[in-house]
Amino acid sequence: MMIVEISSVHLEDMERLQAISQKTFAETFAAFNSSENMRLYAAKHFSVEKLSDEWRQLNSKFFFATHLNRIIGYMKLNISDAQTEICDENSMEIERIYVLKEAQGNQVGQQLLHYAMQIAKQNQKEYIWLGVWEKNKQAIDFYLKNGFIIFDKHEFVLGDDRQTDWLMKLQLK
Ligand SMILES: CC(C)(COP(=O)(O)OP(=O)(O)OC[C@H]1O[C@@H](n2cnc3c(N)ncnc32)[C@H](O)[C@@H]1OP(=O)(O)O)[C@@H](O)C(=O)NCCC(=O)NCCS
Repeated sequence: MMIVEISSVHLEDMERLQAISQKTFAETFAAFNSSENMRLYAAKHFSVEKLSDEWRQLNSKFFFATHLNRIIGYMKLNISDAQTEICDENSMEIERIYVLKEAQGNQVGQQLLHYAMQIAKQNQKEYIWLGVWEKNKQAIDFYLKNGFIIFDKHEFVLGDDRQTDWLMKLQLK
């Protein structure tokens, strides 16, 4: 087990956030998608400007997971109107939760998820939800193991490719 420190991302961290976002996204999806679609997606979503805009959203929060002073994972949580799909005041969305490939399987995702659960509870949220690509078996198994259930699906566009995401949720009360 790798014990991580989980801390809020600050505005001056945007280049570090960009680096971990790009690396983990490439590690997770490059094998399944064309390099052109990967490039289009990264250019659109992981520029410092785009990440800074997202960071400024009042109801979105980014967190780093750090081990021995190195960022090895991150997550993005949304509440209220910042949620990408379900604008329910009783829910919190985990929009992104990513751990570097080399650090996976060491309970880092678990520590991030527990942290997200604490934040949801502190904000009196009734459930946590997220979208996950139907072919991302590793993540789906991780969520199922943690008590999430599949309750719906939606379309996710990666470059010019339309894909299906499962929507999963974890009831907290
Ligand atoms: C999904 C992810 C966040 C999980 O984080 P992780 O650090 O690898 O997982 P952990 O080590 O914390 O695992 C926690 C538990 O889930 C289980 N688990 C993790 N991956 C699993 C898998 N592929 N199959 C079955 N169980 C799995 C572990 O066995 C562990 O259970 P245990 O405590 O009984 O051993 C991480 O693998 C990741 O970043 N993947 C790539 C990015 C991604 O897909 N993000 C989600 C986008 S929706």
